[in-house]
Amino acid sequence: MHYLTKISAAENIATQCLILGVFDGKQPGSSIVKLPAMARKQVLATLKKGDLGDKAAHTLLLYSVPGIKAERILLLNLGDKKAFDSKKMASAMGTAVDLLNKNSTRDCAVIIPDELIDALYPAGRDLAIAAEEQVYQFDQCKSKKNRPGKPLGKMTLVVTERKQLNTLKKALKHGTAIASGMNLAKDLANLPGNICTPTYLADMAKRLGRKTTKLKATALTEKQMQRLGMGALLSVSRGSREPAKLIVLEYRGGKENSRPVVLVGKGLTFDAGGISIKPSAGMDEMKYDMCGGASVLGTLQACVDLDLPINVIGIVPSSENLPDGEANKPGDIVTSMAGLTIEILNTDAEGRLILCDALTYAERFKPAAVIDIATLTGACVVALGHHTTGLLGNDDKLADELLQAGEDIHDPAWRLPMNDDYRKQLDSNFADMANIGGKGAGTITAACFLGEFTKKYKWAHLDIAGTAWKSGSDKGATGRPVPLLTQMLLKRCKLAE
Ligand code: BES
Ligand code: MN
Ligand code: ZN
Repeated sequence: MHYLTKISAAENIATQCLILGVFDGKQPGSSIVKLPAMARKQVLATLKKGDLGDKAAHTLLLYSVPGIKAERILLLNLGDKKAFDSKKMASAMGTAVDLLNKNSTRDCAVIIPDELIDALYPAGRDLAIAAEEQVYQFDQCKSKKNRPGKPLGKMTLVVTERKQLNTLKKALKHGTAIASGMNLAKDLANLPGNICTPTYLADMAKRLGRKTTKLKATALTEKQMQRLGMGALLSVSRGSREPAKLIVLEYRGGKENSRPVVLVGKGLTFDAGGISIKPSAGMDEMKYDMCGGASVLGTLQACVDLDLPINVIGIVPSSENLPDGEANKPGDIVTSMAGLTIEILNTDAEGRLILCDALTYAERFKPAAVIDIATLTGACVVALGHHTTGLLGNDDKLADELLQAGEDIHDPAWRLPMNDDYRKQLDSNFADMANIGGKGAGTITAACFLGEFTKKYKWAHLDIAGTAWKSGSDKGATGRPVPLLTQMLLKRCKLAE
């Protein structure tokens, strides 16, 4: 969708559909008050009849409203006035966009309510993200595409003062870049495991690398990983016919000598569990076990689109986890790149095995901070459900920074504790550590495992097992946590408001 910004009086907006906000289904918002008398009279009379439903995001279309240039008016219920904010506006606008996208309206305009004038940056950003989410479709694998005949292609955001325009333009630029990053992450994640293999992910990273000279994309082969001693990662891949890849994306937008933020994303393109095989019900969803990796690609694309003045490295260890004659067996002991030996007591705890070698590899970039993103534990879904990402780490400041970024952009995370009591759950009789921590605190013991490999730098871990995709009738990837990560980087660049 194209977004335009404009200063205009309500009556002069030439559009197929002018969207006007109403609170609680009856209280006219500021944009209605600004209509010329004749139009205002008709809108108020309609509102009095009570046909606009009383729930947030209810809509009512009006035709032939006199005294304005717009062909139609869409009344949009913004819900409770006291609770109104940029997120509520964005979510109601999402519904409006859905409606207009399905009828014959190709362009629309919305007057930013006075209530949001002091929050113009989040309002514009969230609006663009919500609109793009609404029109997102994944139909790459359908032979018949079910696209709207006349899709909504243009949205004009109207404000009254010139000085508001710049903020709004910046907000829309950030919002659309974040939304395209989310769309890339969603597309990669929604693709099935037989198409989105480690090799495919590596090719997509390389394609991203061709967008600009500031981004270099490479992928280590198994042979190269062997030479580096990545015994943990390669042990997972041994049970699969698809070769593993260690994808490395280097975005150099900052000063040459400034330390990069390193993002490490789990890229398990299908997790059957290995010899500790998973139950078959719902196993298809384990194609989503590469969502961490997909979010790294999505975030790096946003860095490129926004030309961020910062250095960011993306590392995506990518493999399948399948049962096979050569697969890991419970009790096997492998040696990681860091030299630590690991007793594999459950082959389904494979994410930490591929991540630990990638986290050791991250050291060579002299990181300012390392953040790993992984669909790591079912236990995280039990603890936090599908709304909140799990956050753990070894640095309070970095953890707070990520929590705040998530809060800012409505992509929330919640911190869980980590200490030596939990770490002891990983003790092994036969190796330096086991790959599982036994009963209780599965998300924390998984993080403790990674924590053994991240002692040389500031590190945070995002467990996105519950937030990366939705199940059920609207099964699909969410694109999270691209918003959180991009917001964190924007703030490091002092570009977010
Ligand atoms: N990819 C899974 C975690 C997962 C499960 C994410 C369900 C989302 C939904 C991971 O590789 C895994 O299998 N973890 C095990 C660890 C256990 C064996 C200690 C789990 O959570 O069951
Ligand atoms: Mn697993
Ligand atoms: Zn997994």
